[in-house]
Amino acid sequence: MRVPMIAGNWKMNTTVSEAVGLVSEMRPELDAIDNVDKVICPPFISLAAVRELIKGSSIKLGAQNIYFEDKGAYTGEISPLMLADLCEFVIIGHSERRQYFNESGEIINRKVQAALRVGLKPILCIGERLEENEAGRTEEVVTEQLRSSLANIDYLTDLVIAYEPVWAIGTGKAATGKQANETIGFIRQIISEKYGKRIAQDLRILYGGSVTADNAAEFISQPEIDGALVGGASLNANEFLSIIRQTAEIKRRLSV
Ligand code: PGA
Repeated sequence: MRVPMIAGNWKMNTTVSEAVGLVSEMRPELDAIDNVDKVICPPFISLAAVRELIKGSSIKLGAQNIYFEDKGAYTGEISPLMLADLCEFVIIGHSERRQYFNESGEIINRKVQAALRVGLKPILCIGERLEENEAGRTEEVVTEQLRSSLANIDYLTDLVIAYEPVWAIGTGKAATGKQANETIGFIRQIISEKYGKRIAQDLRILYGGSVTADNAAEFISQPEIDGALVGGASLNANEFLSIIRQTAEIKRRLSV
């Protein structure tokens, strides 16, 4: 059985004190929910403070980005070694990084390798743009993204994939559960062809894109979908808690 995961991607939101406030508000209830990996990904500058706050709890911490060199003259960047001390997960290849910061498949691949090298668990994001979806190219696009970002990587145990159709991110226009399940099943198939059935069956693949407390159940109840990467709704304590509670409940029901 794959342990379901809900990760909150706060993006470029919250000051340090707001981050501390939001985590303090959610901590007791989040901590109490079992059988789901609960991951919070605040901005870099809040990682240390949030880490202190969640010490001793079952809440996990992730960063939103990483650079691939360990140290050196790379003004403004954050290295794998710096993050390895602070958190367990790191989001890599988010479509906003691909789109606004020109991250190519090759750069994303170097970042995944750098994260794994220091023991960080990548949450690798892939997904097609609207025009690619409309042209019926979804499978081709995710296949290419998997090929480039996983080049030379033969160890997937610590990796999580998030399938996020770009047209569904921050738009309020989520995919349907059925669509997302189909594409995620396809992604698992590609992984199976490259890494074998066993690894593909153990790999967690999340859906992301306009997940809310109202539509989460539609995704979570699909057999191929192991959880969600949540943007906007993760900034609201009640919404985020509701998504996680529903996940625990639905996956528990499906496993018996
Ligand atoms: P959203 O963002 O939930 O606000 O659509 C998801 C993401 O970008 O990971």
